[in-house]
Amino acid sequence: MAIRIIRENGDEILRKKAREVEKVDDKIREILNDMVETMHKFNGVGLAGPQIGILKRLVVIDLYDDDGPIKLVNPKLIKEDGKQEVEEGCLSFPNQFAKIIRPKKVVIEALNENGEKIRVEAEGLLAQAISHELDHLEGILFVDKIIPGTLEYVEPENNK
Ligand code: NI
Repeated sequence: MAIRIIRENGDEILRKKAREVEKVDDKIREILNDMVETMHKFNGVGLAGPQIGILKRLVVIDLYDDDGPIKLVNPKLIKEDGKQEVEEGCLSFPNQFAKIIRPKKVVIEALNENGEKIRVEAEGLLAQAISHELDHLEGILFVDKIIPGTLEYVEPENNK
């Protein structure tokens, strides 16, 4: 496994639409593992392919709970419900946070790392994270959706 370089705000790859993965093979599994490692390294709760310069529909999420890291290939939104106002950041926008409206619940279908079809029904923080990462696959960034006047820059407490 390897830590990948995270593309940051201003990198035009973040604005491109990611492509479907045709086959879930060892190469894809390796990318997913690297994405998990990179997300953990920077204390993120999610990471999408374009953020490491790979324009494929790949997403990892980890809320650091019993569900462990979730790896999604070609995730597709089936349904969303309700609204929640949340505080949000993004590994591609270091130290920036803002308030944003996300769906309260989402249902998605995807392939897992073995190429098997899975369905995830999520609410709260997991629904927020899924919605954020699915946006990345369309080239949509959280700053596109912030509630005006809520963007804050928070200085890191220490350099890790
Ligand atoms: Ni993000």
